[in-house]
Order: sequence, then structure tokens, then C-alpha cells
Amino acid sequence: MIDLHCHILYGMDDGPRDFDTSLRLCYLAMENGIEKIVATSHLTSLVDIDHYVAARDERIAELRAELERRELNLQIYPGAEVFAGEDLMYPLPLEKVTINGSRYILVEFDFYNLRFSTVLRYIEEILKRGLVPIIAHPERYSFLQIQYDRVNFLMDMGVLFQVNAGSLASRSGREEFDLAYEMVLKQAANFIATDAHSLHNRPNDLLRMMRDFPPNINQNWLERMVRTSPQAVIDNEVVIPSMESGLLIRGRY
Ligand SMILES: [Fe+2]
Repeated sequence: MIDLHCHILYGMDDGPRDFDTSLRLCYLAMENGIEKIVATSHLTSLVDIDHYVAARDERIAELRAELERRELNLQIYPGAEVFAGEDLMYPLPLEKVTINGSRYILVEFDFYNLRFSTVLRYIEEILKRGLVPIIAHPERYSFLQIQYDRVNFLMDMGVLFQVNAGSLASRSGREEFDLAYEMVLKQAANFIATDAHSLHNRPNDLLRMMRDFPPNINQNWLERMVRTSPQAVIDNEVVIPSMESGLLIRGRY
């Protein structure tokens, strides 16, 4: 499987603190059927893009060298979890922090006090640059939890969605689970990833989490979310949307 969203690199953000923990997360990934990881450390200020990319690439090179030395079958690709704030509106080179140099960019938002109109403004800006936004863990945002049909609206704009495996395995709150589950059932979720930060805080034990997924998930779509679609992103190919996607209509008004 492919983990499209993982804080595997040390010393970049609130992920692993040292190289040893990065390596242990790599072993946990392999034990859980993960063969490819996109390193998506937080990028909180877009003004720091060059510094971020230099630090990230250095750590990826270090990790790849060690994985190779140990003859381990795990590929690491460059990415970023880009915080969408007002600096997104500046003409900064966002293409430097896309996933593996593709047109796909993983974005997150402020969890508090963010108006949906502001989210739309950021999404429009990303699309205007010719990039495809992948919203990380949509199920965690109250602006979507309170009104599910906003997911439909974003889908129509061309947004893709990455749901956290932990949300679907009921490791987060009830509201996270409800929206994640609805998005997977309606095939609005394009990817499932771990968003792992450490061995203890949201680990990447994907197979174990999958055993706790609700049993009636469409297996073909699950395969698409953990393998086919993330591979298309890494290869900068088209992510095929669901042909059966239903509209999400639940939510509080
Ligand atoms: Fe993350």
C-alpha cells in the first residue's frame, strides 16, 4: 500500500524527534503492508519554502540511504502538508512543495474559526495555479462536519480528499468517524492515509486500523484509496473519480 500522508521525517515538525524514530516508523509501515511513503511534514509558512525543501530533501536522502543499506523494500517520496493561510495568495512557488513534483498538492487548514468562503478562496487560488488540491483529513474540519454538502461543492470544483485511517478506525471522535465513513461509502474520499506523527501519537499501523474499519466498505474502492489513486498522484497521472459517487446530504444546518 501507499501512505500518501505521513510525518516520517524527524526534526521537521511535530513528527518524529530523531532519526531512530523515523526508522522505527519505517519498520512499522512495512509490517503493515506499506511499500511507499510520501513524506509530508508540515509546511506552516510558505515564505520558508526553500528552507523547507532543502531540509526535507536532506532528510529524505539520509533515510533512503539507510533503507538501502539495510536492503529494505520501502520507497520514500517528497511531499508536504501545506498549511493554507493568507500567504497562499502571494506569488510563491507552490510547485516546489507538490507531491513528488506532480501537480497534486496536499493542503490543510486552520481548525478553528475558518469561514468556508475563505477555504473556497484558497482552493480557487491553488486551482488557478494549475495544481490539484488534495484536502488532508476533511473529516476533522467543523466547517464540513456541520454541512456535508460542502464536500460535494468542493468535489465539483475538482478537489480531492484524503481521509485519515484513524478516523475510519474510530480512533478519533464520533464526528470525524461519521464524516469519514460517509465520504468512503459515497466514494467521495479518494485516499486513505495514516497521517502518522510518531509511534505513539497516531502511528502508521495501517493493517491494524483496517481491521477496525466498518465491514461494509467496498473493497474495490478501498483498493483504489490505498493503492491505485495514490500511485497515480506519485506518477502525476489522472486520479480517476468514482463513477458511483453519491451526494453527501447529511449534516446540521
Ligand atoms: Fe498531517
